[in-house]
Amino acid sequence: MEIVNSENLYYPDRKFAEDANVTGYSPEMDYQMFWEKEAGKLHWFKKWNEGRPLSGDAPFFKWFENGKINASFNCIDRHLDGWKRNKAALIFEGEPGDRQVMTYHDLYREVTRFSNVLKKMGIKKGDVVTIYLPMIPEAVIAMLACSRIGAPHSVVFGGFSSNALADRINDSNSKLVVTVDGYWRRGKVIPAKTNVDKAVDSCECVENLLVVKRTGHHIFMEQDRDHWYHELMDWASIGCEPEPMNAEDILFLLYTSGTTGKPKGIVHSTGGYLTGTATTHRNVFDIKDTDVYWCTADIGWITGHSYIVYGPLLNGSTILIYEGSPDYPEKDRFWEIIESYGVTVLYTAPTAIRLFMKWGKEYVEKHDISSLRLLGTVGEPINPDVWRWYHETVGHGRCPIVDTWWQTETGSIMISPLPGVTPTKPGSATIPLPGIIADIVDENGVSVSKGGHGYLVVKNPWPSMLRGIHGDMERYVDVYWSEFDNMYFTGDGAVRDEHGYFWITGRVDDVINIAGHRIGSAEVESAVIGSEMVVEAAAVDISDDIKGQALTIFAVLKESVEASSEVEQILMESVMSDIGKFAKPEKIYFIRDLPKTRSGKIMRRVLRDIAEGREPGDLSTLVDRAAVDELLREQQLVKTAG
Ligand code: PRX
Repeated sequence: MEIVNSENLYYPDRKFAEDANVTGYSPEMDYQMFWEKEAGKLHWFKKWNEGRPLSGDAPFFKWFENGKINASFNCIDRHLDGWKRNKAALIFEGEPGDRQVMTYHDLYREVTRFSNVLKKMGIKKGDVVTIYLPMIPEAVIAMLACSRIGAPHSVVFGGFSSNALADRINDSNSKLVVTVDGYWRRGKVIPAKTNVDKAVDSCECVENLLVVKRTGHHIFMEQDRDHWYHELMDWASIGCEPEPMNAEDILFLLYTSGTTGKPKGIVHSTGGYLTGTATTHRNVFDIKDTDVYWCTADIGWITGHSYIVYGPLLNGSTILIYEGSPDYPEKDRFWEIIESYGVTVLYTAPTAIRLFMKWGKEYVEKHDISSLRLLGTVGEPINPDVWRWYHETVGHGRCPIVDTWWQTETGSIMISPLPGVTPTKPGSATIPLPGIIADIVDENGVSVSKGGHGYLVVKNPWPSMLRGIHGDMERYVDVYWSEFDNMYFTGDGAVRDEHGYFWITGRVDDVINIAGHRIGSAEVESAVIGSEMVVEAAAVDISDDIKGQALTIFAVLKESVEASSEVEQILMESVMSDIGKFAKPEKIYFIRDLPKTRSGKIMRRVLRDIAEGREPGDLSTLVDRAAVDELLREQQLVKTAG
């Protein structure tokens, strides 16, 4: 990792700094007071126990106890009394080029009608609704309609396979799934409904499917179970009283990968989560009433929840959503969209920027993107060269970049520059935001000094923190609160530089980050082993120019099975069918035995070295190196033959 030295600091432009929403840090303020003040900017039906924003016993923290609040009311109704009633809340561009603009009042109409549809379907406060939708306005409408009536949503990313979807529906015990006939990707229809049909075959809990018509291609509709969204919306009346929720009531579940084969249903609260997302969206993106804000994430990930839907709508912003691929019909689609709508704030991922870099700046330069005033990145460490390209080519050297570090579990941004205040360094997320006490510690939980490398932890509870893992509180304590006393363990490694800036180095556990998508190596391994041809497998990440990390698998085949490219293909299919196409392995190596330490731990480092074509480093703790030598010899033969 390249740590950029102090001469390379980028200072905020004076004009930008003068107009910024936040103009300085006030470190003397107590974090509880800070968050209490921020929570007060939302609309509460009933205030929490004032002066006591935080309660509960660690790590079962509670924020704003006894306060009553509703997410959809805060995202919509609060803006209806003034001029924002007619402001664009949502701009949609479909991949084929169709467009739709919804004002805050339009959103009110559609959300309240859909809330009434949900009620008609028998959904009550506390019932989990699974949403399996692409990037279309109905995804936002469905989330807000659920939150209006107090039904937690569980959005499943559209790229997940039917098996992965079924696991998530069953774990959350959803009786209703909201989905779509299909959607557009590189000019072709992706038949989402077919996936759902397959998934619900193994979900006894599901009673109804609501199906949005997007592509209009012919699909199977099961009588009494499947209903067209537009038909039910046609009769539904406008207006639906928002349910006053307790601050600690669940707003949503969102599944993410951990170190075991079973994904974790991360639980988020209502009052604390809304406070965290509204505050950080306002401060980090320096959001103004005139902004056209575009976060390119998918709604199925936490970034989509916090910074497409909740944060921006709480702040009355105009959000843009785009359905399709960045290279359709041409590689300039993003820049065309920015020019066309006058996008001012762009929030995207390093993997996308690397792709744009590879395609070349001529695609960017074809368009007038001078409306941009702020750029953001999220999802993985950004390489300093990529940061500089983003700054120069997209930001014309004048837009501040906010490199935002956070996680599904943290709910909102934790470490990031404040764009009008913090000097930035390409590749560093800089320092923790106000209200957050993050640190880098060694294995004993002691802060590392400047220049030191260690584990990234958070030392104070914060409002948007996860409240647990659905159905498994033991795992919650175990994963996040057992590594260090009284600290939240992030699973990331980090370095502290000479200015105290944080440089995130990536995961220190067996979680792989492919193109900003989290996948547990154990999930991949269990998919391969499930094929019945494999005795044992290890999934490791290798570096990749575009995706950041790519997936490689080492598999030990049963004696009766001969290694071949057909077997490799079958195993790849098995991973894609268990998880999704986005988890397709780059390569599968067949090995006689996995390298292990005496205590039986797989030495992933050795496997990574082999896959990346390096001589494996220290092998002294390896029990039996014959299998590794054998594989290396085979590799050498392939190279020589090639
Ligand atoms: O490893 C960190 C990386 O992404 C992980 C969280 O993944 P997920 O829960 O899917 O959420 C992604 C979007 C918030 C973290 O543990 N990560 C996220 N942002 C950054 C990052 N690594 C370095 N720099 C970032 N800005």
